[in-house]
Amino acid sequence: MFLEKIALTNFKNYEELSVQFCEQVNCILGNNGEGKTNLLDAIYYLAFTKSAINSLDNQNIRHESSLAAINGILHKSDYEVKLTCALQHRKKKLFKIDGNEIEKFSNHIGEVPLVFISPDDTYIIRESSEVRRKFIDSTISQLDKVYLDNLIQYNHILKQRNNLLKSWPKEKAPDLDLFESFDVKLMKFGREIHNSRKAFVEEFSPFFQSHYKYISSEKEKVDILYESQLSDESFEQKYKEALNKDLILQRTTMGVHKDDLTFQMNQTPIRKFGSQGQQKSFAISLRLGQFDLLKEKSGFTPILLLDDIFDKLDDLRIEKFVALINEETFGQVFITDARPERSLGIFKDYGNKVKFFHIEEGNAKEIQG
Ligand SMILES: Nc1ncnc2c1ncn2[C@@H]1O[C@H](COP(=O)(O)OP(=O)(O)OP(=O)(O)O)[C@@H](O)[C@H]1O
Ligand SMILES: [Mg+2]
Repeated sequence: MFLEKIALTNFKNYEELSVQFCEQVNCILGNNGEGKTNLLDAIYYLAFTKSAINSLDNQNIRHESSLAAINGILHKSDYEVKLTCALQHRKKKLFKIDGNEIEKFSNHIGEVPLVFISPDDTYIIRESSEVRRKFIDSTISQLDKVYLDNLIQYNHILKQRNNLLKSWPKEKAPDLDLFESFDVKLMKFGREIHNSRKAFVEEFSPFFQSHYKYISSEKEKVDILYESQLSDESFEQKYKEALNKDLILQRTTMGVHKDDLTFQMNQTPIRKFGSQGQQKSFAISLRLGQFDLLKEKSGFTPILLLDDIFDKLDDLRIEKFVALINEETFGQVFITDARPERSLGIFKDYGNKVKFFHIEEGNAKEIQG
């Protein structure tokens, strides 16, 4: 699977852009602020129908324009598909496949398996549990449409229950039948989500661990633990007992929306005790594990977006990374680099397996290595 071409109109800093990519390595080179990451983000849009960076579609339309469009031609085994995403101020976003508008964006997720490794990925380790749930969800959703549906339903019902908790008069006894009607559904979808996440962590861990071992020259042992209230046998009982607390706090305090992952290094939390380098290797290994799992289970080699990756790795790790590209572990790869000479050097012997693009003033000019 590879993206042959992309054409942008009024997307972020690009007025008009049309680029023909190669099937293997595409280096996006240029100074800071020229639009390298924006180009990766446009590719991300074609896979996820949204931005990896700015969730407000409006802000991804070029300033002073009212409409942005991203068009791509994607080759999948023996056929090609034309993908279009159009953003408009104060109007619904449109996503088209071969000219046909899709109604449910979630149906498209997984059709273009893609992994984005960004410079700030250690946030997955450092920030709140929400980002770790997102990490799990975005991986499973690319592989399992039922999972994404369950998640959408769960979040929808959770929101309704929370609204009910907020509006329930303090002095009034709770209507147990009414709450029960929400709880039955939350239990059903919650249990399915729990089972999928548990299976995911089991399948994902060995991929992740082997990448950590390869990338870091460290010998420490890394683990991922799935923390979920639903693992407790008496979860349902505890959930019911929490209703009074929920009414006081005006939100649902128990369920899969509280799930988390604990990242460990030698049995201690890497968030607290890992060095910066260890955290960086950990975060990259999470992404590469995601890549392996998607590759194995989807039957397609995911597109890989590497944003400023060389800045984040020391020379030894860069070498190991490039070896992975060389072994053709990866399929189509997009790499941004603000230091053109570095990427030109690394990929100088790649012949027709590499294309270099110089990004300047909203244009992409192909340059020879
Ligand atoms: N909606 C928008 N309209 C116009 N310009 C935008 C819009 N959104 C972002 N930009 C511009 O895009 C530029 C940033 O582009 P991008 O992040 O892709 O740069 P980069 O080449 O990756 O830089 P770096 O090397 O620093 O990572 C900024 O100058 C920003 O003002
Ligand atoms: Mg950038």
